[in-house]
Amino acid sequence: MQQHTSGADTRAVHAGRSDLTALGVHVPPIDLSSTYPLPDVEAGGAAYDQMAGGGVREEGQTAVYQRLWSPGVARFEEALAELEGGEAGIAFASGMAALSAVLLACVGAGTPHVVAVRPLYGGSDHLLATGLLGTRVTWTDVQGISTAIEADTGLVLVETPANPTLDLVDLRAVAAAAGDVPVMVDNTFATPVLQRPLELGASLVLHSVTKFLAGHGDVLAGAVVTSETWARRIRPVRAVTGAVLHPLAAYLAHRGLQTLPLRVRAQQESARQVAQWLAQHEEVERVLYPGLPDGDPQGLVGSQMSGPGAVLAFDLGSYDRAARVASAVGLITHAVSLGGVDSLIQHPAALTHRPVADGAKPGEGILRLSVGLEDLADLLADLDQALLTAAVMSPRALSHSG
Ligand SMILES: Cc1ncc(COP(=O)(O)O)c(C=O)c1O
Repeated sequence: MQQHTSGADTRAVHAGRSDLTALGVHVPPIDLSSTYPLPDVEAGGAAYDQMAGGGVREEGQTAVYQRLWSPGVARFEEALAELEGGEAGIAFASGMAALSAVLLACVGAGTPHVVAVRPLYGGSDHLLATGLLGTRVTWTDVQGISTAIEADTGLVLVETPANPTLDLVDLRAVAAAAGDVPVMVDNTFATPVLQRPLELGASLVLHSVTKFLAGHGDVLAGAVVTSETWARRIRPVRAVTGAVLHPLAAYLAHRGLQTLPLRVRAQQESARQVAQWLAQHEEVERVLYPGLPDGDPQGLVGSQMSGPGAVLAFDLGSYDRAARVASAVGLITHAVSLGGVDSLIQHPAALTHRPVADGAKPGEGILRLSVGLEDLADLLADLDQALLTAAVMSPRALSHSG
């Protein structure tokens, strides 16, 4: 008989749950223990060495301490690794903690130079630009990657779709240009539902789990999915710096994965319609979305990504108009973050990308919109009233009204 492989939706529902039947439960039990009983000093010490050294807890071993291992976190890690097609998942207290751990692992290995393609999320850009963790960055585009690589380059970092412009980066081209240097892809916007960077030549996938993966605006979390070899370098950094994911947050993130494919597809469908509607709106100068004809000049939707995703941006031409629209929405929440079941709008240059250097900041007229699961007609009605309210309030309109 031919081997049957589960589909991606089935994996999202069941991944990381293989121990539950033996435990006699249907959903993952939440273990909040901060510490664990030690059978004896030797066994405790051996377990400590195992986990602080980069491994995971072995069957029958004490977990020692929550900063080293926690069962609910381990289940979430296993589930995400399965969805991304990687050997190991490593969960963190936030996406920024996950990025920091990878950067510290590079510094620790004597390869502190990072080659990065802008735009990146403003926090990632800021962390690299300041060199806070002892890294050194060269900003470039995909064409410049191979020449930017130096003897001590430890990482090539890209984000696609990129926050907030929704630019797509050709991951196969990046992997080819990087050669032996590991590529890390921030897959927060695409999620493994739409894009699996490890199959396209990346060595590490980064997630702000806070966004689509957890999906309900109630969890701050991050993760890296990679090979077991890389994981053994990253886990000791997490163990000693302590930016671990709390077991309650791990439970919620793991539960979020079960509906991830369904949410991403439904939100993406609405985002497509919202993008097309905005592109026709007379108050909108430009819509940035890979699902529009001019939003994917390299033709990566369909080859690298299975769909354009549920986040878009649009340009209102000026800071004032963008700020007025952001303040005029009602159903849509004016707030940072993205990827949740409810729609959020925010001004990247003023908020999420505020610390980015002037030349690299997103345009002052741009708003980023994360499309949620509301009825499409309600979203369009809210955007329409916000755009018209902002237009009526504009100095241009006021001067015309005499
Ligand atoms: C693409 C991307 N990567 C990383 C991060 C950082 O994640 P967190 O806020 O969970 O630390 C964010 C947050 O907005 C993001 O949008």
